[in-house]
Amino acid sequence: MSALPFDQKDGWIWMNGSFVPWKDAKIHVLTHGLHYASAVFEGERAYGGEIFKLREHTERLFHSAEILDFKIPYTVEEIDEASKATLAKNGLVDGYLRPIAWRGSEALGVSAHNNKINVAIAAWEWPSYFTPAERLKGIRLDWGKYRRPDPRTAPSLAKASGLYMICTISKHAAEDRGYADALMLDWEGNVAESTGANVFFVKDGVIHTPLADRFLNGITRQTVIGLAKAQGIEVIERRILPEELSTFSECWLCGTAAEVTPVSEIGEFKFTPGKISASLMQAYTDLVQGAKVSA
Ligand SMILES: Cc1ncc(COP(=O)(O)O)c(C=O)c1O
Repeated sequence: MSALPFDQKDGWIWMNGSFVPWKDAKIHVLTHGLHYASAVFEGERAYGGEIFKLREHTERLFHSAEILDFKIPYTVEEIDEASKATLAKNGLVDGYLRPIAWRGSEALGVSAHNNKINVAIAAWEWPSYFTPAERLKGIRLDWGKYRRPDPRTAPSLAKASGLYMICTISKHAAEDRGYADALMLDWEGNVAESTGANVFFVKDGVIHTPLADRFLNGITRQTVIGLAKAQGIEVIERRILPEELSTFSECWLCGTAAEVTPVSEIGEFKFTPGKISASLMQAYTDLVQGAKVSA
């Protein structure tokens, strides 16, 4: 990734049905999505020219929009095609895609029934920076400054821009203290997820992961659960209290951007990335690289 600011790159961004030069993909300062966070987005990765789990991501984008009470004015198939076209138009093979939908600037107030729904898709190069050996050292997490909101307080199951406000604050606080990221609890005090990925633990050869009924049930999370089960490893989804962390031996984060990233520390608790983390890291790599083979 270059150090250029994101609005200064070269390339093409798909915006409301056609490609515009990267630097011209602008919106007005009085856009509803900016003032009231009426925006939903996706993060996708392409491996070898193929977008991994594209349909699942596009469907989640539509579902997130529905939760925010707006309708994307395209079909899932059209957004899938536009995503593939964006990757190709930018000459990318291994890259990251960012589709986003937001309410426009037709009216600026809380009520926005008649605001246009805009959609854009950007893509850029995003290679994997770490070798498997480097990753297996594990990253260090601090406890999050904020908790994930109660689903009665916020649309917790949508990938909605507004939900990332507490993630940025929590991640900044963790980084300021020398950690890579923050692990957030849910509003009841159970372990939830990091600021941009789901979390897994291992105890006596069994995988334990928080039930994803109150935060994003990541597409990578679901994939990793499938891979573990295919390897004959038992996976238990349940509420996990922070004090239980002393009983777990391995821990990793997973998400589209993080892929499978072992964790060596969460606050006062230590983990040793081991056999199960390594085996699932490998299985995930094989699967996404397989997407490349079938492209
Ligand atoms: C808050 C949060 N949780 C979990 C995930 C993992 O989701 P996925 O595996 O679908 O990328 C992400 C990334 O999108 C995220 O931002």
